[in-house]
Amino acid sequence: MDNQLYFWNNYPIIQEQLMQVNEIIHAEINKVNGKVGLALRDSFAVNGKLLRPALVLMFAQFAELDKNTKRRMLNVAAAVEFLHNATLIHDDIIDESKMRRGVPSIQAKYGKHVAVYAGDYLFALCFKLLSDNGKSMKSLQFDGRTMQGILGGELQQLDHAYDLNLTKDDYLEQIKGKTGLLFGLSCFLGTYESGLKISLARHAAEYGEIMGQAFQVKDDILDYTVSANQLKKPVLLDVKNGIYSGPLIFALERDKDATLRTLVAKKQELTPAELREIERLVNELGGVQVANELADKLTAKSIKLLKQKFPENKARADIEQLTAQLISRTY
Ligand code: IPE
Ligand code: IPE
Ligand code: MG
Ligand code: MG
Repeated sequence: MDNQLYFWNNYPIIQEQLMQVNEIIHAEINKVNGKVGLALRDSFAVNGKLLRPALVLMFAQFAELDKNTKRRMLNVAAAVEFLHNATLIHDDIIDESKMRRGVPSIQAKYGKHVAVYAGDYLFALCFKLLSDNGKSMKSLQFDGRTMQGILGGELQQLDHAYDLNLTKDDYLEQIKGKTGLLFGLSCFLGTYESGLKISLARHAAEYGEIMGQAFQVKDDILDYTVSANQLKKPVLLDVKNGIYSGPLIFALERDKDATLRTLVAKKQELTPAELREIERLVNELGGVQVANELADKLTAKSIKLLKQKFPENKARADIEQLTAQLISRTY
């Protein structure tokens, strides 16, 4: 199956629902005029993994849904995918990244003007779908706080650009903001919008935030362990751009003779050969290994929370299986 929906082969009900989410996404972007419309249709011609909408739908499985609620859940799921894509389109501008999901990024193909508007358009669509389909202001409030938090993480990352003294705690805070909170929002919306108690939805959010941190640590590990071809996006771009993630931070802690530190300090001057040397050192010094241990720890913590707060049933088993699948992913 094309378009990464094969990621959901083990979850046929979710896979079927994600196809319907895709229909909602395409119906919306087909209405967009001009260059921004072209760019958006281009970019959604290739799907990502659709993780965040899947989390909405998976948490909704804890509830009994009537027809109208099912329809609303699909729209809410589309809303979080729009929000996710908006952040990626803007992230690619900031990073000057040329590839996303194996095709040219919007900024590379259409330029920064179109990319800024395309991202803005998706933020607007997220609000529209959420306000049209949410059952109360609670979801919009949660969405507003999440967006503020994502920006907080991104701004903290910007302020720490090229900071060789970034600590593990700084890193954990950054990735909670830039990635964990959107996972948390998805889990919250799936639970709350499907009619379950808000207290349970808050637990879902907490699970998502921690699982999202594990997900970002793994994304950062992949940056130092697989090829751009496999990842379908550039690798080793973060270190050049001054974004120092888990594997590098942990390797720098073990870099007794400052070989790695001296290389990294070349900042944007780093050549492709030097980047490969950094990759080698990050692996050799054990940075990848320590980051893997961190990802495992966060994953275990998220599963523990899930088991404490949610009943043992098919919905929970699916989420547990997905959580394990995410930590062993290779793209
Ligand atoms: C990429 O997210 C950005 C991160 C938070 C690491 P995904 O890996 O979910 O991206 P797509 O949507 O599958 O391309
Ligand atoms: C992206 O994290 C997080 C947000 C866009 C908020 P990354 O910068 O690691 O994502 P990729 O690696 O470009 O997909
Ligand atoms: Mg990036
Ligand atoms: Mg990344």
